[in-house]
Amino acid sequence: MDDIIDQANKRRTFAIISHPDAGKTTLTEKLLLYGGAIHLAGSVKARKTTKHATSDWMEIEKQRGISVTSSVLQFDYHGFRVNILDTPGHQDFSEDTYRTLMAADSAVMLIDVAKGVEEQTKKLFKVCKDRGIPIFTFVNKLDRFGRNPFELMEELEKVLGIRAYPMNWPVGVDGNYNGVYNRRLAQIELFDKDGSHGQRALKSTVGNVNDPAFRQILGDAAYQTLTDDIELLDMAGDQFDYEKVAKGELTPMFFGSAMTNFGVQPFLEEFLRLAPAPTPRQTSEGTAGMDSDFFSAFVFKIQANMNPAHRDRIAFIRICSGKFERGMTVQHVQSGKQIKLSQPQQFLAQDRTIVDDAYPGDIIGLFDPGVFGIGDTLCPVGQHFYFQDFPVFPPEQFARVQAKDTMKRKQFVKGMTQLTQEGAVQVFQQPDVMESFVIGVVGSLQFEVLEYRLKQEYGVDILMHQLPYGVARWITGDGLNPKALKSMDNCMLLLDTKDRPLILITTEWQLNWVQERNPGVEFRSTPPDLPKE
Ligand code: G4P
Repeated sequence: MDDIIDQANKRRTFAIISHPDAGKTTLTEKLLLYGGAIHLAGSVKARKTTKHATSDWMEIEKQRGISVTSSVLQFDYHGFRVNILDTPGHQDFSEDTYRTLMAADSAVMLIDVAKGVEEQTKKLFKVCKDRGIPIFTFVNKLDRFGRNPFELMEELEKVLGIRAYPMNWPVGVDGNYNGVYNRRLAQIELFDKDGSHGQRALKSTVGNVNDPAFRQILGDAAYQTLTDDIELLDMAGDQFDYEKVAKGELTPMFFGSAMTNFGVQPFLEEFLRLAPAPTPRQTSEGTAGMDSDFFSAFVFKIQANMNPAHRDRIAFIRICSGKFERGMTVQHVQSGKQIKLSQPQQFLAQDRTIVDDAYPGDIIGLFDPGVFGIGDTLCPVGQHFYFQDFPVFPPEQFARVQAKDTMKRKQFVKGMTQLTQEGAVQVFQQPDVMESFVIGVVGSLQFEVLEYRLKQEYGVDILMHQLPYGVARWITGDGLNPKALKSMDNCMLLLDTKDRPLILITTEWQLNWVQERNPGVEFRSTPPDLPKE
């Protein structure tokens, strides 16, 4: 038991959230560089365009240079085991992103110093805020000066509603920065430029801010600006309050530049010191955390055909309590089956390694024989609890799809079934319509992904017709007869894969209209069920 707690305490499992182009790939790569997991930066980014892409497993991602699915990167640093959950970075993201955030214990919010808080950052921030996890801010691209740091702090508060506590502060004037000032240690760290364009870890000079040598190196103007700023922060800024950080009410803010390695290592070290070890998760029968004496984990992502040569399906699980051992048999609560976990894997880039054991906070990939679903629980044999509050996102865009060639119907149904199990799309059937499905997605890129994958992986061309609905509601109610619903013009009645009725409606306004006229009916944005006991 002590061993499990010791091991879990070393884990830091987090996700980096940002708007595209803020530098997430670059920062991730630099963290791997400092963590010793790679030896020359550029290898992750360069892989974007080669067949060895790190998180870009799918062809569509390579073509577009974006990451459609999430992956997990792991490395050790100064006694910590770091698990970085990679979230998709493109505009049009899916539920996958949100679900990945469920597996994280904290988040690093990456902001471009010139652009401040952008659209996607806001959405992802909200998910983290709702979960109440600590959020750390890294203001990137400091080598290319943008906005005033005080102004950025204000923006975080106005736009996101979170106050910031700067952990460090840029050193230099007018965008010409050559270091950062660490407030906790009252130390300046100046970076040597080495001409390698950030490919290697930078050497730096560290010392006390009052050391006259620094005044000399910095020059009077930069030194004065720094001391004025620090005085202002100390007097007018928030106190550092760990409780507030832990609840996601105060964000420790760091300045740096991922590309040139400014401040990356100090950030990593402070982050690991402050970020939480694996936090307990709520189950239907209490909590599961590092001091629980049983194994538990949940599935947060499923991906099929990650390796085209093997045609496999991988279910990614996050361990919440207990020790995972290769070959152990666990209860899969949702199917009621007992499953032997014989080939667990961990991932760094394309390299997979078999894991023998893992602890709370760790993420592992399991070969999925087709039984796992997103949000499913694994627990000790004979037990039946499940993890709560796993988000189900109501789809917002809908399309009718069918196989172009009716002879390919069998492959079409197989592909649709598998991709639904992955959680990439939700599939519905219109009663009495057999040849086509209606699919629902959160972001429209998923339509393209579906079309592409059906063709690549199942050899099926599809016809797709987007439908004019924006809201889905599962309907329940005593003695409900869906066909007797009133005022259902411009609605579509469907059944989900478990034959539960739902309706598609154009707008929230129309939903209100239908709701008012059907008082005995409950309209739910998520399916009305709980896992099987
Ligand atoms: P993303 O994953 O968040 O989408 O961003 P990514 O790391 O791909 O970075 C987006 C662009 O920003 C890249 O430039 C990258 O080099 C640049 N970048 C990242 N960090 C910094 C930084 O600290 N300073 C500056 N000045 N730029 C930074 P690109 O031109 O799109 O690609 P590349 O040709 O540099 O690879």
